[in-house]
Amino acid sequence: MCGIVGFNGYEQAAPILLEGLTKLEYRGYDSAGLAVRNDANDVELVKAKGRLRALYEKTNGGIAMQGTCGIGHTRWATHGEPNENNAHPHCSDDRNVVAVHNGIIENYKELQAKLLRHDYKFYSQTDTEIAVKLIDYYYKKYKGGPVDAIARAMMRIRGSYALAVLFKDYPNEIYTARKDSPMVIGIAGDETFMASDVPAILKYTRNVYFIGNMEIARLGKGTVEFFNIDRELIEKEPEEITWDAEAAEKGGFEHFMIKEIHEQPKAVRDTINTSVNEDGTIDLSPLGIDEEEIRKYTQIHIVACGSAYHVGMVSQYIIEDLCRIPVRVELASEFRYRNPILDPNGLVIVISQSGETADSLAALREAKSKGIPTLGIVNVIGSSIAREADHVFYTMAGPEIAVATTKAYSAQLICIYLLAIKFAEVRGTIDTEKRDQMIAELRTLPYKIERILEDKERIQWFAAKFSNAKDIFFIGRGIDYGITMEGSLKMKEVSYIHSEAYAAGELKHGTISLVEDGTLVIGSLTQKELYEKTLSNMLECKTRGAYLMGITSYGNYSIEDSADFTVYIPKTDPHFATSLAVIPLQLLGYYLSVTKGLNVDKPRNLAKSVTVE
Ligand code: G6P
Repeated sequence: MCGIVGFNGYEQAAPILLEGLTKLEYRGYDSAGLAVRNDANDVELVKAKGRLRALYEKTNGGIAMQGTCGIGHTRWATHGEPNENNAHPHCSDDRNVVAVHNGIIENYKELQAKLLRHDYKFYSQTDTEIAVKLIDYYYKKYKGGPVDAIARAMMRIRGSYALAVLFKDYPNEIYTARKDSPMVIGIAGDETFMASDVPAILKYTRNVYFIGNMEIARLGKGTVEFFNIDRELIEKEPEEITWDAEAAEKGGFEHFMIKEIHEQPKAVRDTINTSVNEDGTIDLSPLGIDEEEIRKYTQIHIVACGSAYHVGMVSQYIIEDLCRIPVRVELASEFRYRNPILDPNGLVIVISQSGETADSLAALREAKSKGIPTLGIVNVIGSSIAREADHVFYTMAGPEIAVATTKAYSAQLICIYLLAIKFAEVRGTIDTEKRDQMIAELRTLPYKIERILEDKERIQWFAAKFSNAKDIFFIGRGIDYGITMEGSLKMKEVSYIHSEAYAAGELKHGTISLVEDGTLVIGSLTQKELYEKTLSNMLECKTRGAYLMGITSYGNYSIEDSADFTVYIPKTDPHFATSLAVIPLQLLGYYLSVTKGLNVDKPRNLAKSVTVE
């Protein structure tokens, strides 16, 4: 979702900004723009609808724009359709203030009414133009300089934002401010970089500053100063990014999604290694959760969006079964407005790859405001959820670029397994022997995933056969139901084929009327006790003309009597089956998308990091 970059140094800014925006493409966007200036020269603005290529062409790769200080933006439309007029940067009529924005300003109507009373005119349908003009208004009214004007605007604006602002009177400076939308700043020698996400500046520096919520920063050439909302100077230490730039490149794979699918054994192994000692004991002390706290938990709420929510769906079966603690799983967008009943001895787990998803962040704050301990399962170090949660469990997936998550999802599952095993051990619902068995099995998962990946050509072949499918139904029971929810989402996200995931026993209560000759029905059958039941539900579909695909463990060969196509996965502890069964489903979505010639890494209408509600 919207990407921001900024550069202030001694080289031409526009080519650097364009390169930075390319690294943020994965966030999703539908138009882009740049504002660049040189010393006291007037700022130059160029915008283009569509892909970044259009902006490259308009500016001759940036060479046509002269200036060593500038800001850039990729816009994912919220207010106003995606066109050049609504693209950022926006500016005040006299170009006194020029800015780009990520987020949503909720009280934009009220602010616009105020500005209209002061004779401001509006040319776009964006909330950003209102923010720009509000800053301009305070700048001229109070004459307190850029930090003062931005701080005054921040006190009036409700919603979420990251802003990058240029002021006519301060030619060699960029100002930035944020609330609930990400922004990082890096310095390399006498040059300063800023971006919505680390990959855009990693080429230049590993030492980055995370600007905090409701803070403002002034970026000079090789300098940065931070201010709080009271305009007081504040000290900040840079943090080192330990993963390398290559991790954010395609490395010989055709697309990021298939590269990241193949990185899952590593993501799983690395995440296990963060908390499992050589002797098989689990150490959660880096998370700051002690055994006394674990014994107290009376309920667990898991709150998340998208695929992270699907991790929650399978988690409830695992945690309830192993730990006997009641678990409720909720969509963050619902939780935050539901006035949930939370036990002070409960735990709220927020799962988020980006750590910036607006609804998940709001849910976390809702829980914190009620005094309930919170745990974030997060991939991006230093992200808002990571900073605000009481405890953080980092997934070791590395940067995930494809919009459709794969390796972060797999790493999130590992965090849940580890929490469940540890909680169960501490609460005495499993013994040491069982723990050792489970940890030993957990350590085999990376090899088992590799084995499934070796067989990917079969899935590729199958995908080619079903590339014209209109509807696909995924069914399963228990943990398998959770698995199918993620399989169905992958399918929709990247292949644009309508699909639904159903609890296998529920299909006949209405939805089975959609099954007709040739409809693809995919059943997940990883849970021994539920195998026969799900198979019967698959057969109910076959009788009505469905083509059946089954995913089950090696050994369950009786499935061949009913299914038309079967994918076998290695046997594992049933609690961990999701980690294996999801792999063929990710591959199926990927190959269907590629077969259809779609933009698999950046599907239409989607954003990697959804920083608006
Ligand atoms: C977006 C992405 C999904 C992701 C969801 C939650 O919708 O397209 O792939 O699952 O956000 O993101 P998070 O960063 O909180 O895990």
